[in-house]
Amino acid sequence: GITRRYNFEVKMQNVTRLCQTKSIVTINGQFPGPKIVTREGDRLEITMVNNIKYNVTVHWHGIRQLRSGWADGPAYVTQCPTQTGQKYVYKFRVADQRGTLFWHAHISWLRATLYGPIIILPKHGVPYPFPQPYKEVQLFLYLSSDYCTTHYVDAFKLKVKPGKTYLLRLINAALNDELFFSIANHTLTVVEADAIYTKPFRTNTILITPGQTTNVLLTAQNHHPNASFLMAARPYATGPATFDNTTTAAILVYARDPSQKDTHTKLPLLKPKLPFFNDTSFAAKFNSKLRSLANSNFPANVPKKIDRQFFFTVGLGLLPCPKIQTCQGPNNTMVAAAVNNVSFVQPNIALLQAHFFQTNGVFSTDFPTKPPFKFNYTGTPPNNLMLSRGTKTIVLPFNTSVELVLQDTSIIGAESHPLHLHGFNFFVVGQGVGNFDSKNDPAKFNLVDPIERNTVGVPSGGWVAIRFRADNPGAWFMHCHLEVHTSWGLKMAWIVQDGKEKNQKLPPPPSDLPKC
Ligand code: C2O
Repeated sequence: GITRRYNFEVKMQNVTRLCQTKSIVTINGQFPGPKIVTREGDRLEITMVNNIKYNVTVHWHGIRQLRSGWADGPAYVTQCPTQTGQKYVYKFRVADQRGTLFWHAHISWLRATLYGPIIILPKHGVPYPFPQPYKEVQLFLYLSSDYCTTHYVDAFKLKVKPGKTYLLRLINAALNDELFFSIANHTLTVVEADAIYTKPFRTNTILITPGQTTNVLLTAQNHHPNASFLMAARPYATGPATFDNTTTAAILVYARDPSQKDTHTKLPLLKPKLPFFNDTSFAAKFNSKLRSLANSNFPANVPKKIDRQFFFTVGLGLLPCPKIQTCQGPNNTMVAAAVNNVSFVQPNIALLQAHFFQTNGVFSTDFPTKPPFKFNYTGTPPNNLMLSRGTKTIVLPFNTSVELVLQDTSIIGAESHPLHLHGFNFFVVGQGVGNFDSKNDPAKFNLVDPIERNTVGVPSGGWVAIRFRADNPGAWFMHCHLEVHTSWGLKMAWIVQDGKEKNQKLPPPPSDLPKC
């Protein structure tokens, strides 16, 4: 592979969207940010210079970062933030991944405007496992309902020719919304998710959580020149949402055949029928159709023998109100979020530094392996609302094979939680509604062709079982990709120890790693 270099200057820029001009945080003045195009096996060196008044870090979401944890990016997990005027070079290799990912800021809420696509092409001469598209559309759908509108002012127009097939790379960069996405009168063929090829399947609508990416093939039909079809997204919410904020992503327009006269007919813009905002049965069906390709070229290396099993509840709860504040919760409490009732507290120096240099007192290694009470989703009143705070981790010896059941509690609020794991892909071996049944559910796990990904939606009032192999030494964040829940503490970290061999150890930090 070769080394590809990018310069990322973090700077403020006036950007006009939806008829409003605002000064926002950007990379190189661009919004969305610059597109990184690389090839499997290449090295990336991205020099980030911070020219704004806030601290910044950037995360390369979904990049495995094999033994390059210092470049992963989450603030106070793998690095101290880059301060005003400082620079940091993110160096890593893109190995054994191909498809669409994205990068985004990983500190406070800066990812609202700091994000851009990462395109990983297959190695030279290696074809896609699906028909070569006529065009890989230079359109990256930022399904960001945070910029929703019913006016189509800024809508991107994708021109297509009848009969041709296009590859669309869809990225959910929204802060807080899981989305349905659909194109009026067109069928999509899903071929890749989170930079992993899938068994192709046809669908009118895709479901995509924040942090997920999906590649679809779209074949243009025999429509009239100028025929226009809306590509639209709508949040998926199982709670009592009463709004319908359908948002426009883009418009598909059929090209005029230059050999024919333009008939000047004004064709109506056709709108897609999206599932209802709380269509859980569509969501369950869609997720069960997602399977990894699992063939000899792209095997699914699902861990079969499990070394460690964990059961995590994810959801909201209450914390005692801090003295300096007034709180809205009952009995002087505040709403927070947690994993196994531990609301994560950000340390003052990065976990990875503390781990590497064996600094005591930064984090503890007693993160609970199961909830502190017998969890029962149907239990009334909710089993245990009270949370505790802590910077707790779980230490895994190198190459531990892990099975983790994530159970949504839905004690307060009813949303699914897109859980994202840094440093690994995992296999989604099972999912269901209600309580996870440890006696009967494991027998139904798919160990043959489960989808492999880096972010999974834990359904509201349901569970997901994942498996991964801890073959990447470092400190790895796992958190809800809804920004509001991350900020409330729905996060934890795994510490994966070095292996015995030289190529199983985390190298020392680069000399320009920012200091706290
Ligand atoms: Cu895309 Cu830790 O995040």
